[in-house]
Amino acid sequence: MAIDNSWYKELVVYQVWCRSFKDGNGDGQGDLLGVLEKLDYIKSIGANAIWFSPIYPSPNADWGYDISDYKDIHPDFGDLDLFKKIVDEAHKRDMKIIMDLVVNHTSSEHYWFKESMKSKDNPYHNYYIWKDGKGGDSKGGKNPPNNWLSIFEGGAWEYNEQLDQFYMHAFAKGQPDLNMDNPKVREEVKDIMRFWLDMGVDGFREDVITFISKDPDFPNGFPIPIACGIEHYNKGPNLMKYLKEFREDVVNHYDCFLVAESPMTNSKDALKFTSGKDKVFDMMINFDHMNADCFMTDTVHLPFSLKRFKKALSSWQENLYGKAWNALYIENHDHPRVISRYGSEKYRKESGKALAVAAYMMSGTPYIYQGQEIGMVNNHLKSLDEFKDVVTFNNEKVFKKFGVPRFIYLKIANLTSRENARTPVQWDDSENAGFTTGTPWFGVNKNYKNINVKDAESDPDSILNFYRELFKVRQNNKIFIYGKYKEYFHKNKKVYCYEMKYEGQKALVVVSFSEKNIKFKAPRGFKLDKDNVILKNYKDIEIDGNDTLTLRPYEAVVFLYK
Ligand code: GLC
Repeated sequence: MAIDNSWYKELVVYQVWCRSFKDGNGDGQGDLLGVLEKLDYIKSIGANAIWFSPIYPSPNADWGYDISDYKDIHPDFGDLDLFKKIVDEAHKRDMKIIMDLVVNHTSSEHYWFKESMKSKDNPYHNYYIWKDGKGGDSKGGKNPPNNWLSIFEGGAWEYNEQLDQFYMHAFAKGQPDLNMDNPKVREEVKDIMRFWLDMGVDGFREDVITFISKDPDFPNGFPIPIACGIEHYNKGPNLMKYLKEFREDVVNHYDCFLVAESPMTNSKDALKFTSGKDKVFDMMINFDHMNADCFMTDTVHLPFSLKRFKKALSSWQENLYGKAWNALYIENHDHPRVISRYGSEKYRKESGKALAVAAYMMSGTPYIYQGQEIGMVNNHLKSLDEFKDVVTFNNEKVFKKFGVPRFIYLKIANLTSRENARTPVQWDDSENAGFTTGTPWFGVNKNYKNINVKDAESDPDSILNFYRELFKVRQNNKIFIYGKYKEYFHKNKKVYCYEMKYEGQKALVVVSFSEKNIKFKAPRGFKLDKDNVILKNYKDIEIDGNDTLTLRPYEAVVFLYK
C-alpha cells in the first residue's frame, strides 16, 4: 500500500534556480547560503515547498542539467551539510523540499561515462548508448548509426576514436544519454532517489523523464533541423515499465511525490501516467499552454494567441478533473519571462497580476519561478557575446544555416531565449541589485532600480503583495484548489473567463488580456456584485447594471458565490 501523499495537492511550489537566486558568499554565484537567508521570504509569498533546479556537481554544459555526481552539492552552491540544514529549516517552517532528478542523461564528466569510454568490456560501457557507426564516408571515416539530431547541439551522436563507436546524446554533447534498458542503470537511479529521500527530501521533479526509453531499433527520424528522431524516444516502448519500477521499488515506500517534466504530452496522454492503478506520477509539467506564442519551441515565435492559451488550459482542467492532478505554471528556467510573452511590459503590474489570476485560480498545484513574484521581465542584451546558454549558441548556428544574419538572431534570442529567466533575482536597487557583492556570473537586468523585491515589499499594490493575497485566497477557499472548471466564451480573443464549482459554491474568474478598455457581459446566471469580489487587480471594479463589467487594461476580477 502506497503512503497517502495527497498533501501535494495543497502545495505552492517556489522554484529556485540557485546560481541566480542570491549569493551568500560574495563570489558572484547564487548559493545555498543565499537560499537559507531567504527561506522566510519564500514562505512569506505563500509558498510551502521549494523545487531546486539541479544543485549537484556539474561542469555546466547545460548549467547543472549535466550532473557529474548525483550524491553531492556543487561547490559553487555549498555542501551536503548546508543542504541538510536547509532541509531541516524548511521542515521547521512546514515547507517541503523537492530535488530535480535528471536521469535521462548524465554529464560526460560523470565517473560512469569516463569509465564507459575506456573499453567495450568496461562494466560501465553499457550504462550508455554506444553504437557502431554505419559504413565509411568518403574520407574513410564513420557515419553515425542514424540521422538523429540533438535538441541542443548538432548531431545526436559523438564519435569516439578509441572505441570506434558513437555515443548518443539527446541534449548537449556533454550530456550522454543513459541506457535505461540496462537493469544496473535502473538500480543506480533507485539508489540516487533513496539517497535524497533518506536525507529528508520530499519528492522529485523528474527532468525529461518521458525520454528515458529509446526504440531499440534506432530507426531514422523524421527529417527536421533540430531534435530529428525524437519520436523514437519520446514515450518509448519500455517507459511505463521503468517508471513503475521506480514507483514500486522506491517512491511508494516514502512519504513523497513526483512531478514529471514531459514535453510533447497532451492531457489525454497524461492520464495514462497520472491516474488509475498504473499511476506513476502525481502530476506532470506539460508544455501545451507554453506554446501560445510559438510553434513547438519558444524559438519559433508567433504572436500570442489567447485562444490557444485558453484551449490548452481548458483541455488539462477538463480531462484531468476527478481523475488526475494538474501542475499549474507560467514560468520556469526554460522560458522567457511571462509578462514579456503573454502580458505587456507597458502594463507590467496589471498584466503580471492578470496572468497570475488566469493561471492559478484553477485546480492544481501552483509552481512559481524566482522573480516571477516581483514581475521580472525579459532582458534586452546588446550583443550575442553576452549570452551563456548552449541552446542560444545552437540556435544561432541553425538560424545561420537558414541565412538569418547575426543582428536579427540577436533580436530573436532577446525575445525567445530561456536566458531571459536566468538573470539574477533583483533584491534591491543597490549595485548588482543586491544579488551579490562580487561580480555577478550573468548580467543583472538593467531595470533593477525599478523592479526589485525591496520596492515590492514597501508597495502595497505590488505584484509581490498580490501573489501573497492570491495564495491566501486559494488556501482559504478550497474551490480554487479542488473545484470543477468550466470555460466561457472560448472564442473571445481578449478575455479569459472561467467558472469554478465546488461543494455548492461557485466562482467566476474574469481576466482581460487587452491594453484597451473592454465591455464584458457575464455569462448567463452570474450576477456581478461588488460584495462577491474576492480578488481584483484594480482598486475598484466598474459594473454596469448587474451583469456588465468595464474591464480596464489587463484587469482581473474573481467573484465568489458562497
Ligand atoms: C529539461 C530542463 C532543461 C534542460 C533539459 C536537459 O527540459 O528543464 O533546463 O536543459 O531538460 O536536461
